[in-house]
Formats: sequence, structure tokens, C-alpha cells
Amino acid sequence: MPWDPVQYLAFGSERSRPALDLLSRVPLEAPSRVVDLGCGAGNVTRLLGERWPAASILGVDASPEMLAAAARACAGASWRSADLARWEPEVPVDLIFSNAALHWADDHGRLLPRLLRFLAPGGCLAVQMPRNHDRPSHLAVFTVIDGNPDWSRQLGPRLRRNPVLGLEAYEALLAPMAKRVEAWETDYLHLLEGEDAVLAWILGSFLTPLLEALVTADREPFLRACRAALRAAYPPDARGRTPFRFRRLFLVAQK
Ligand SMILES: C[S@@+](CC[C@H](N)C(=O)[O-])C[C@H]1O[C@@H](n2cnc3c(N)ncnc32)[C@H](O)[C@@H]1O
Repeated sequence: MPWDPVQYLAFGSERSRPALDLLSRVPLEAPSRVVDLGCGAGNVTRLLGERWPAASILGVDASPEMLAAAARACAGASWRSADLARWEPEVPVDLIFSNAALHWADDHGRLLPRLLRFLAPGGCLAVQMPRNHDRPSHLAVFTVIDGNPDWSRQLGPRLRRNPVLGLEAYEALLAPMAKRVEAWETDYLHLLEGEDAVLAWILGSFLTPLLEALVTADREPFLRACRAALRAAYPPDARGRTPFRFRRLFLVAQK
């Protein structure tokens, strides 16, 4: 199950909102070199190009499917296929922007300071990561997996139950190398349309590597179990929409 740009962008407007909120806090007037780390389908890369049309913009991602969609969505940028935890720029850059991607990498204690080191003086690291792993959208799936020894065996090594640290931890990591660090969290209340909307949402992100790790014959029963657990956790409101509360963590560090 590779990353699927169509499934991911099924909630494109809800998923773009935190990127716009992050972008509004980036204090740079005219950066020359901008990197979109974990650029996905290029919808956010396009926003970066619109804000700084004179900048050279590079999108980095490990998924060929996402990079192909990105190249179609955003003309004028350059693209690089790389692991975001190992990528490094050839010369210092002015902005590393990463929306909903760094939580896929481990060892943030090393990764975040490493990224800050790639910035030119005055440059900025701007990061948004989902922090919903202790909410029903994720707990329901963990419970399904924990309740089935075969799925636990297959998915155990892929399960990342708590990949994002707290605000204070990131501030402490970045402050010694930065002139200024802003860190905050926002809870969004999405009102999703359609049946099994939370399942559809996580199919485009959190479930992608888990389905990939399961043997094919287990995928349908696993999805059935997730669907039932998520229906119970997220009942529709009186208008048939599914209220979906989603917490995200934001960091803006200027060097
Ligand atoms: C949830 S999408 C976010 C995409 C985009 N930043 C956005 O806001 O729409 C996460 C992206 O991170 C990429 N990704 C996950 N792990 C990665 C890694 N280790 N190296 C590079 N890209 C990775 C995936 O391929 C996917 O495109």
C-alpha cells in the first residue's frame, strides 16, 4: 500500500488548514532557498511558491507516487527523492518547512537540531506534526491490533504509538541553537462528510504503512475491525457529519 495522493487529498482542505496556520507564522520576507521536507502531493509546496515566487523551492519526499503528483501540482519547483531523516542540503537554506511529515521519522532529539544546522543565519525551521496518537482515531486502531496476536506480530515493529514529543521538549531542543522559538498546539474540530469518514481520513496517512506491512489476506478483516471501532468512537452528529477533533503541534525556530 504505497502513499496514495488521491486518498490523502480526499480531505485536502482540512489538511491544508494547519499548513496555512504554520505559514502565517514564518517571519521571513524574501527567502532565497526554501525546502518543503516531506512535500507529499505538492499542495503545500505550491503555497510556498505562491508566497515567495522569487525563491528557489525544493520538495523532498520518499514516495514516488507523491513526488509524481507533486510535480503535476506545482510547476517551477525542483524535487528530490530522499529519506527526510538523512536528507541534507548542498548549501545552507533559508527555510525548511515541514507539514505533517516529521512524525514519520524517529529520534527527534537528533533530527530537529540537525535540521536547524542546515539553515543560513536568520533562516527558519517551521514544522507541524499531528499529535492525535492518544486520541480515539489512533487508540481504536491500537486496540484492534493489540486484540489480535497475529496482527500484533506483523504490525508491532511498525507501530509508532507516541512519535511526537511535547512542546516543552522541542523548545528545549531548539532554543540553544535558535534566536527565537515559537511552539504551540491547536485542536481542530473537523466536520467530516461521508460514511466512515475517520477511517477514510486515516487511510490516507496513519494506516498507509500498517496496511503495507500486513499480509494481503489480513487487510480486509483488519479494515473491517478498524471500521467498527472507529464508528463506535466517532458517531455522526444530528446533521450526519462526523465531528473529528484533531490536535496538531507547531514549531517555528529562527536561527
Ligand atoms: C501526511 S503526508 C504530508 C504531505 C505534505 N507535507 C502535506 O502537508 O500535504 C506525509 C508525507 O511524508 C512522506 N514521508 C514519510 N516518511 C518519510 C521519510 N522517511 N522520508 C521522506 N518522506 C517521508 C510521505 O511519503 C508523505 O508524502
